[in-house]
Amino acid sequence: MCGIIGATGQGCVTEILLEGLARLEYRGYDSAGVALQADGDLWRARAATGTRSLEDLRKIVDGAPDAGGALTGIGHTRWATHGHPTEENAHPIMDCSGRVAVVHNGIIENWRELTARLASDGHVRTSDTDTEVLVHLVEEELATGASLVEAVRATLREVSGTFALAVVCAGEPGTIVAARRVSPLVIGLADGDPEGEVAGEALLASDIPALLGRTRRLWALEDDQVVELRPGSMRVTTLAGKEVEPSVLQVNWDLEAAEKGGHPDFMGKEIHEQPRALSDTLLGRLLPDGTFALDELRISDEDLSRVDKVFIVACGSSYHAGLVAKYAIEHWARLPTEIDIASEFRYRDPVLDSRTLVIGVSQSGETIDTLQAMREARQWSAKVLVISNVVDSSMAREADGVLYTRAGPEVGVASTKTHLAQIVALEVLALHLAQLHGRMPPADARMLFGDLEGLPDLVELALAREKDVAEIACRFLGTRDFFFLGRHVGYPVALEGALKLKEIAYLRAEGYPAGELKHGPIALIEPGAVVVGVATRTRLWEKMMGNVAEVRSRGATVVLVANDGDSDTADQADEVLWVPSTDPLLAPVIDVVPLQLFAYHLARAHGHDVDRPRNLAKTVTVE
Ligand code: F6R
Repeated sequence: MCGIIGATGQGCVTEILLEGLARLEYRGYDSAGVALQADGDLWRARAATGTRSLEDLRKIVDGAPDAGGALTGIGHTRWATHGHPTEENAHPIMDCSGRVAVVHNGIIENWRELTARLASDGHVRTSDTDTEVLVHLVEEELATGASLVEAVRATLREVSGTFALAVVCAGEPGTIVAARRVSPLVIGLADGDPEGEVAGEALLASDIPALLGRTRRLWALEDDQVVELRPGSMRVTTLAGKEVEPSVLQVNWDLEAAEKGGHPDFMGKEIHEQPRALSDTLLGRLLPDGTFALDELRISDEDLSRVDKVFIVACGSSYHAGLVAKYAIEHWARLPTEIDIASEFRYRDPVLDSRTLVIGVSQSGETIDTLQAMREARQWSAKVLVISNVVDSSMAREADGVLYTRAGPEVGVASTKTHLAQIVALEVLALHLAQLHGRMPPADARMLFGDLEGLPDLVELALAREKDVAEIACRFLGTRDFFFLGRHVGYPVALEGALKLKEIAYLRAEGYPAGELKHGPIALIEPGAVVVGVATRTRLWEKMMGNVAEVRSRGATVVLVANDGDSDTADQADEVLWVPSTDPLLAPVIDVVPLQLFAYHLARAHGHDVDRPRNLAKTVTVE
């Protein structure tokens, strides 16, 4: 999740780049950088000072006498995925000669093989990024006499993964070559002077906000299309070099709407970014031999195979993701797994030793309760691993190992896309542990990984029913109390559904394991009570339906999350939230989506600010 921008023309290119980057900061601000072409040379500036990156970049650019005269340039604002958020890893990344520069958003999946091949051909690696292979491959092609566009096409035929990228080289002044696969890329043309003596600018960006106000003539590049930009003109071709017409983009958004991708708020946008967050988190994790590529893990396979017990520590939505993982680790890896609310963990004298694996789950990587729990675990010589969405967060630095979710920055205070990404990252870890403990042959792991890879499409299907969910949610505008019930992995889904409703709709919502109801809470069920049940076909569906019958017979109104076409479940419900089905242990990723939407639409119908719910903060750094 990075922002990219490019411009070539007679105008103030440097200003276009810096202003565009400022508008893209919501995509990440670990670092910022530009590469500018001036007088047949390429000049680069980068800053990696977190929230100050762009400000510092501007100072460097302002202090450079040539920068103002640049007619062509590319820029980048980074949300780190591969490699620490340092200046070396900041884009633009350059080739060995310093005459080619690339900015990239996405993940190059086969970077390991390509890096090894390029190193044996004598290329010197200057960053830890997956992006760097792109620029060396372009360099090699240029050395054979290829033009920049030919070099980029040849490069892209060699890489797998996702990208929106832009490349400039000193040898082709005025030209930017850009391309995309999965990651979006928008092209714009601005008019020159009315007499046509001065050509206008040609522009590109990863997101519309960066170009708003510059032009309304916009096009969207499709997958595997390559564009050559020159002042005032563009030429779009396929990877095979065939010329194609790009699709015109009609944009009637203002800047604020554009930053939210046309959604009314960041939470809505982030809920819809979930399929992408999942596929990015999974990208490149499975190797051809059926084992897993978890590069950042830093804990050796030997140490992990010695582990005889797992503890998971987390808070809030991250705790609910951890609870799903407990079921997965115990089922697949057959390792005893405990889970603790992080703020309780160190006060209960947990029994840990060097064969214990403690997994902290935290999207921010900064939550003090989870950080302290991890510190406690390290005192007992346990191996500590964190699942985090923020590269080099405090937890990532202190832990023995880390596994990053790649959900991109989450602005809405209530977790949505980071929560789903945590579940799949934990499930990949569970499969990895299962293999190391000899519980799962590579063929089975490959099959389950295939199911994980199917989740983004299934989540997309669940999101497509948003209108129906919104209508159902609005029927409960007068309800103040809700019960959320689930069993097995449906239980954490119920907890998460209840938490979402509490935090953004300010409604009382109790999440319960459905079997526990008759041990007390059922006393609260009376005609008019609203019960939301997770009744997809997981292991305990029949028992869950027994619990549903118990509340129905006491007059509760029942809303059930059910698998598409499951009329037996629907018959027992007043309202149904339909979802597609998958492997039962992966189902929480899909089943939670209608509950997020339910809370979201109910909160909006009540007139609440879903991005900034009262009394809450995105990162909780007090105990
Ligand atoms: C709920 C929510 C919180 C966080 C919790 C932990 O929507 O966002 O419950 O999940 O504060 O935060 P992290 O994951 O940053 O440790």
